[in-house]
Amino acid sequence: MQLVDGRWRISGHDVEALSEQHGTPLYIYDSQVIRRQVNRFQEAFSSFDHRIYYAMKANSNPDLLRLMKELGLGIDAVSIYEIRIALDAGFEARDIIFTPNGVPFDELEQAIELGTRLNIENLSYLDQLGEAYRGDVPCTLRIHPGHVISTANHDTEGWYQRSRFGIDGDQIPEALRLIQMHQIRVEGLHVHSSSMILDEQVFGSAAEVLLNLARQLPDVRAIDLGGGIRPPYREQDDHPDLDLLSRSLTKPLDQFERDTGRKVQLWFEPGRYLVAECGTLLTRVHVLKQVGGRTVAGVDTGFHQLIRPKLYNAWHEIRNISNPEGSQHLIDISGCLCEEDDLARQRSLPEVREGHLLAILNAGAYGYSMASTYNSRPLPTEVVL
Ligand code: LLP
Repeated sequence: MQLVDGRWRISGHDVEALSEQHGTPLYIYDSQVIRRQVNRFQEAFSSFDHRIYYAMKANSNPDLLRLMKELGLGIDAVSIYEIRIALDAGFEARDIIFTPNGVPFDELEQAIELGTRLNIENLSYLDQLGEAYRGDVPCTLRIHPGHVISTANHDTEGWYQRSRFGIDGDQIPEALRLIQMHQIRVEGLHVHSSSMILDEQVFGSAAEVLLNLARQLPDVRAIDLGGGIRPPYREQDDHPDLDLLSRSLTKPLDQFERDTGRKVQLWFEPGRYLVAECGTLLTRVHVLKQVGGRTVAGVDTGFHQLIRPKLYNAWHEIRNISNPEGSQHLIDISGCLCEEDDLARQRSLPEVREGHLLAILNAGAYGYSMASTYNSRPLPTEVVL
């Protein structure tokens, strides 16, 4: 978003004008930002044979999906519903990886029928897959990150150990037994390390462990390092160094190739990195009040449309579009729902008045896709620029 001659613009479009044309609350997605992020990602990993499967849980807007398709990406899907949306957007089933957990096996059967790839994260699915299809349906195996990432180096918050996703390290022998017994073709190994990767060594460590396991699985031809790369949310946030992440992969891949004579393709499943920064949620201030010594701006969106501040205490930058040059005041921005609904507390913003338009930034990932109709409010409008 740029300030040009005293007016905020997104990709050349006047933000006030967009709000007048489409109303508020309004999600705006800037496709140029997505192109930029996809380019950055592709360039960083260009020295490897690699493939990006966009994690559509971050944002499944059909126009964005079509853009991802145009840019040559595949899809990482978590439900049969996402698979159907991706197929409708023009993706081929073989370009979709399905990573279900906790769903009835019937959903896996539907995905197999449609021809998507399958990423298996527990022994129960692995056994059922083997029982039902023998060696006819290949899969990738999702490995628990606690097995992959050394706690000492990377797990300051205990995320990897707490995760419930993937086949646990202790269960690898049993997984190998089931694979052998059912003659299952395991064509890839997967790990999703976290949702906020900032540590440059994480991919390298993950690759090392996955490739060690791949030595016992001769059909493995891809390792999937999941998503989790975190773009900056605040102005002072570090940018992830994709080149360093990429460089950490060279050694384990070279070693594997030297020892086994096999080459593997790298797969990635970024969601947030590709779409967070493209999205802006526009909302209008309808009520300004003083309460308990605070100034509160009541706006026409809320956690039904952007739940991240409420659910994760997440920070989203906010701009006062209507008064860019005003003097700074501390203010709380509060949503319109019937319970505590703070989008931001004690933010310093150019003076906010009733009728002003506010922009909540970096809302392209897990914004609309996590929206609900709580309080019977309709979902917001989305426009793609
Ligand atoms: N692959 C797998 C297997 C995943 O579980 C996820 C995210 C991704 C890829 C994409 O991760 P990303 O690159 O977007 O970080 N609602 C939360 C994020 C939940 C992520 C769940 N899994 C948020 O708003 O922060």
